[in-house]
Amino acid sequence: MTQNTELALLVLAAGKGTRMRSSLPKVLHPVCGRSLIQHSIGYGHALGARRIVVVIPPDAPDVREAVEAEGAEAVVQAEQLGTGHAVEQARDLLADHEGPILVMYGDHPLFRAETLATLVDVHTKQGAELALLTGVFPDPSRYGRIVRGPGGSIERIVEEVDANPQEREIHEVNLGVYAVPGRLLFEWVGRLSNENEQSEYYLTDIVDMALAEGTQVETSTVDDWTEAIGFNNRVQLAEAERMMRRRLTERWMLEGVTFVDPATTYLEMDVEIGRDSVIEPGVSLRGRTRVGSGCRIAAGSVIDDSTLGDDVTIKPQCWLEESTVANECVIGPSAHLRPGSVLGESVRIGNYVEIKNSSLGQGTKADHLSYIGDADVGAGVSFGCGTIVVNYDSETKHRTVVEDGAFIGCNSNLISPVRVEADAYIGAGSTITSDVPSGALGVARARQRNVEGWRKRRFEREED
Ligand code: UD1
Ligand code: CA
Repeated sequence: MTQNTELALLVLAAGKGTRMRSSLPKVLHPVCGRSLIQHSIGYGHALGARRIVVVIPPDAPDVREAVEAEGAEAVVQAEQLGTGHAVEQARDLLADHEGPILVMYGDHPLFRAETLATLVDVHTKQGAELALLTGVFPDPSRYGRIVRGPGGSIERIVEEVDANPQEREIHEVNLGVYAVPGRLLFEWVGRLSNENEQSEYYLTDIVDMALAEGTQVETSTVDDWTEAIGFNNRVQLAEAERMMRRRLTERWMLEGVTFVDPATTYLEMDVEIGRDSVIEPGVSLRGRTRVGSGCRIAAGSVIDDSTLGDDVTIKPQCWLEESTVANECVIGPSAHLRPGSVLGESVRIGNYVEIKNSSLGQGTKADHLSYIGDADVGAGVSFGCGTIVVNYDSETKHRTVVEDGAFIGCNSNLISPVRVEADAYIGAGSTITSDVPSGALGVARARQRNVEGWRKRRFEREED
């Protein structure tokens, strides 16, 4: 793909997005883990654009922040008077731009960068002053239609609301992507009128103007219409997400990953998965998650922003958040690794165990019903069923240290801050409040007392 350093990308993203019925601006809605704005700006980076400008709505500091975080410039459109008017807002920034400008709408997250590069080539290499992208859709409703003359060349774009019944039968639609020199773009946009059904300044009317002036206008049609869909409401958003997910799972399958049921695997854009890993149905892999090779992730598990080594087994219904898991660990079923959990090699975390902001050394085990929070745990430690690290005294969280080879008996409480030294042994049911020296047994529970004949005496009293 050609990297075009003369290119500028202009993204129109100031629309109200009323059809989303959301308090979140439309452009911040995510598709496979990246907001619309990130998808749009990402095209500019993929094409090597020199400048990326995004037209944003007024009073939307979060949108501006998102634009700037992706290395693009924001310009506000105070009133939403149409796509042509949106372009007008970028005049001061881009009218003098020497190279081509690629104008796009901010609600098409599925384009392949290659498709956009092809359109830019129609403009720069084939010499069409105005090049625009079209798609042939099985259901063209809600899109502007491409009206072609008898010779097959484009005549104009008509919006659905302005179209006559014959025009509505046209399946070729405008995708809102145009490659054009800045000089011409701003000259045309400056002359748009809003005499149409919606009283808006339509960017699409530049096609008419260009043809009237005898300027060469060419179209490029996407091969696969599914990459071209835009969305205006949440039904279409779900559709876009499904298509993007399908593309992602296919990509990873070709890289050697098995999805038992790709249709029910929820995968985000920035996830990476190693060879021969098997992902079972109903798994969500999100954010910047990295899965090594030979892993198995069982049904119903959700993994957010976490790194898994090789040959890791995640049993059903686990949730991992911002955690790091080394090779050959076995986790679950129903375990929860909260942010900051770091597991060494071959650690075993079993049923209903919660780990938070703790590191566990190689081969350490917590197989059943435990909470380990704010702890630095060595290698080869064994936590019996029901161990609780009592890390919070209602005011402050404290850290606990458990050194290599320690054995924590069942149903123990380690009241933080406390240190259990190497190879120490904690008697079951102990509440440990002071440090246990290396190799010692720490027991902290009431001594057992048997009251002889108690049942009989009690029974007789009740008979009276
Ligand atoms: C637009 C096109 C239509 C095309 C379709 C593709 C026009 C007139 N129509 O219709 O031909 O088939 O996209 O999806 O261009 N925006 C602004 N400011 C505004 C209005 C819109 O920034 O004043 C932005 C929106 O945020 C959006 C984009 O421009 O990202 C398109 O606007 P939208 O209202 O969604 O246009 P459509 O009706 O979908
Ligand atoms: Ca739209």
